Amino acid sequence: MSQHKRYTGLIEHYRERLPVARDTRVISLCEGRTPLIRLENIPRLIGKDVTIYVKFEGLNPTGSFKDRGMTMAVTKAVDQGSQAIICASTGNTSASAAAYAVRAGIKAFVLIPDGKIALGKLAQTLMYGAQIIQINGNFDKGMQLVKDVAEHAPVAIVNSINPFRIEGQKTAAFEIIDELGDAPDYHCLPVGNAGNITAYWKGYKEYSSDIGGLKAVTKKRPVMCGYQAAGAAPFVAREMVDNPETIATAIRIGRPQSWDMAWAAQRESEGWFESFTDEQILVAQKLLSQNEGIFCEPASAASIAGALHDISTGAIPEGSTIVCTLTGNGIKDPDVAINQCKDAHPVTIDADLYSVKKAILDNL
Ligand code: F0G
Repeated sequence: MSQHKRYTGLIEHYRERLPVARDTRVISLCEGRTPLIRLENIPRLIGKDVTIYVKFEGLNPTGSFKDRGMTMAVTKAVDQGSQAIICASTGNTSASAAAYAVRAGIKAFVLIPDGKIALGKLAQTLMYGAQIIQINGNFDKGMQLVKDVAEHAPVAIVNSINPFRIEGQKTAAFEIIDELGDAPDYHCLPVGNAGNITAYWKGYKEYSSDIGGLKAVTKKRPVMCGYQAAGAAPFVAREMVDNPETIATAIRIGRPQSWDMAWAAQRESEGWFESFTDEQILVAQKLLSQNEGIFCEPASAASIAGALHDISTGAIPEGSTIVCTLTGNGIKDPDVAINQCKDAHPVTIDADLYSVKKAILDNL
């Protein structure tokens, strides 16, 4: 008998730990099971004895971690009879909502800040056929409008204030423990609306507790390190920020919805929040690309900027095992990437053997 079982997404895989009934129609694009890649060159480069893994969530079906939450949120919305979903977004949630809506055969409305989302995310959302509503205002304004309109129109909110989003996203913590055999010492991730840090912490807590008939998989929980962009860092300021600004548009958020839950994650894990400038974030993005061959979007690189900073100060001690979540794929934001490499002049040559050979020999 064949032992072969096709992977069909995180709901089927972690069904016993998710609130989905046996007969519920699952809306999935085979999200999850993303690679946990061990960094080989950067630890050598910084000369520190640390084990760093990146959880490359940019390899989900729409290129970000949002798909984990969206498979759950859309599955439940359809199960409850919704014909339409809505979200406010800095780009990734809108792309993900659009894809899962079309998969389910329902309508998606997405509110995005006009001109402030990365090109790839806009292209995706258009291609999936969502109804895009651009607003003259930022994500925080969009989020407020979405909450207001959901009281007046038959649409299900699929932002991370929807508890099923958190349920889906917690599976990333399960995957890390399943793969490493235990929790890491530190978990580093970017924080915007704060749904993801909330979800990871929930996942780590659940895997280290006996719940229902399920035994704890481990006793260990990581320290949670949340990193923000300096211009959009309410957790560092310890108060909401009115006009958030950063090149990492995914986390250009001043009024995080999961405020209390993110603070609980910080407190319970004895972790911390820190912020990094756009320049530090971009340096980390390029460092990862050019030393490891892993291209994440700017917001995701905040986790690398933060981890490397905290390793250098000793806040994360040598000997530690660290997981950094790379929340989104670098190809989503081609403008920032190309701008980062404007000094890397591509050569243009005549299309003949001599010229190609010369171009190689001159540059070896
Ligand atoms: N990284 C990326 C690439 C994101 O798109 C987001 C959030 C975050 C990090 C922060 O995660 O909000 O759970 O703390 N993007 C949302 C969106 C806001 O609309 O796509 P968070």
